[in-house]
Amino acid sequence: MYRTHTCGELRISDVGKEVTLSGWVQTVRDKGFMMWIDLRDRYGVTQLIFNEEVSSTDLLEQARSVGREFVIMVTGKVIERISKNDKIPTGDVEIEVSEFTVLNAAKLPPFTIDDDTDGGDDLRMKYRYLDLRRGPVQRNMMFRSNLAIETRKYLADQGFLEIETPFLIKSTPEGARDFVVPSRMNPGQFYALPQSPQTFKQILMVAGMDKYFQIVKCFRDEDLRADRQPEFTQIDCEMAFITQEQILNTFEGLTKYLFKTVSNIELPDFPRMQYDEAMRRFGSDKPDLRFGMEFAELNDVAQNKGFKVFDSVELVVGICAEGCAAYTRKQVDELTKWVQRPQIGAKGLVYVKYNEDGSFKSSVDKFFSAEDLKAWADKMGAKPGDLMLVLAGETDKTRKQLNELRLEMGRRLGLMKEGDFKPLWVIDFPLLEWDEETERFYAMHHPFTSPKKEDVDRMLNGDHETMKSLRADAYDLVINGVEIGGGSIRIHDRGLQEKNFQLLGFTEEEAEAQFGFLLGAFEYGAPPHGGIAFGFDRLCAVMNGQNSIRDFIAFPKNNMGRDMMIDAPSPVHGEQLEELNLELKEIKKEE
Ligand code: AMO
Repeated sequence: MYRTHTCGELRISDVGKEVTLSGWVQTVRDKGFMMWIDLRDRYGVTQLIFNEEVSSTDLLEQARSVGREFVIMVTGKVIERISKNDKIPTGDVEIEVSEFTVLNAAKLPPFTIDDDTDGGDDLRMKYRYLDLRRGPVQRNMMFRSNLAIETRKYLADQGFLEIETPFLIKSTPEGARDFVVPSRMNPGQFYALPQSPQTFKQILMVAGMDKYFQIVKCFRDEDLRADRQPEFTQIDCEMAFITQEQILNTFEGLTKYLFKTVSNIELPDFPRMQYDEAMRRFGSDKPDLRFGMEFAELNDVAQNKGFKVFDSVELVVGICAEGCAAYTRKQVDELTKWVQRPQIGAKGLVYVKYNEDGSFKSSVDKFFSAEDLKAWADKMGAKPGDLMLVLAGETDKTRKQLNELRLEMGRRLGLMKEGDFKPLWVIDFPLLEWDEETERFYAMHHPFTSPKKEDVDRMLNGDHETMKSLRADAYDLVINGVEIGGGSIRIHDRGLQEKNFQLLGFTEEEAEAQFGFLLGAFEYGAPPHGGIAFGFDRLCAVMNGQNSIRDFIAFPKNNMGRDMMIDAPSPVHGEQLEELNLELKEIKKEE
């Protein structure tokens, strides 16, 4: 037997017991006549003590031969520690070792296996099995496992069936590029890996499965960021004979249940905000509600006062940074440069300091009287001591820029508090989005999303401009400014689905070739249905107050989409290509 207990288990009540433990050597401290080893496994760390009086010379010599990360097995007696360690649950005891076996030696690890490691990202990814031994990463994996198990419990309890859908499918457009897989048996043809199981879960509703869920891998070939991986996991759901209201309630219920059972946090009821309102008040469809700093539109008090920059634009809009009137010239200049960076793209930043004495100092003093600026302050709810920051320009762009500035000020002022969770449903998204560059409509959520009942007529009979104003039964769950999930009520009528494809630029033949199976299924008694998918990795990260989903994925990819441990992607053999009827173009190396 390798062990009677784990390394996280023994307590003062176990003193006197003879135990066997196995694990990895965390640290070795050698004082000559005595030495200690901290032994680690997934469950914790237990201190081993080797004592000349108790342990044989042989045994001591053996113990001295081990280094960090050796795998050892020891037997000994649990004794009370003289100097206790109240930082770990096993800190009251240690094991007086009488038998010692090295199960496997270890090379010196390339970085320290500690909570605060000295290993850089690439090195940790290459030796992911070592990184995964570290406490924080292990805790993340355990958290993720718990979250998945509790998700299954909750949804099973609500009558959902867990059904697997295939990975080798035909492309489903969700806005990203597909990963494709060549078919050996069908030369020149390709499968696509699912960007989500969207069409399959809808087909399951046509098939009468009523309530479906799956914790499922999805694949999207898109540019990577901290909260995006090329393969990620969704909690994917679909329900038949269901209204938006019922879906929101079910998944608000799931979210509250997960926060309570896994993190012991009670969430209040989630507020709801229409898309238009979110854009107006925060310039974002995923506002971070941990702090205010809401937008104030200033057109009627800031235009036609002789300041040309403002007069000709669509929108003048500002935020109030509380208590920042004392910002120095240098600080304000730095903020101006910040919004002018190409990533943000603002032309300039107007500031107004509302001084403690009630006076104003602004970058536009020439054009606006104190009375004018007081009117701005009133709109923004600014008080003496505050700093007003104002942008102007085309509505959508300016809102986006001010959203970035709001978030940056929130970060700088420490307003995004750890342990504070502010969930929100954003509802009533537009159905379609017009793209000026390509001069075509895109589906705001995806092509299967239903317009609101009251908009169906306008969709079927309206002109081009009308299409821009259609609203959908589509919704997102946002927590602390992160889009956790999104879903919609679906179209279940062939005619309406065809109309949607047509608006999205599909010819009839293209729609039939790509989605004939779904259109066909709609002709055989498709029930009204709808659903949602949560980003599971994102939910893990947000619940732990972290931005990067990588730390919650056992084997993540780096920013170039590479798995550094197995070194993928990689070339394949010539024969493999031949078998697949593929020929590689010569890839030109960059000079
Ligand atoms: P959507 O595309 O909004 O909807 O995706 C749902 C959620 O999945 C997460 N997510 C990602 N997480 C990590 N890396 C990525 N690359 C990534 N892309 C998306 C987000 C997102 O909110 N089929 C629809 C759902 C439906 O309508 O039921 C869908 O996939 O948290």
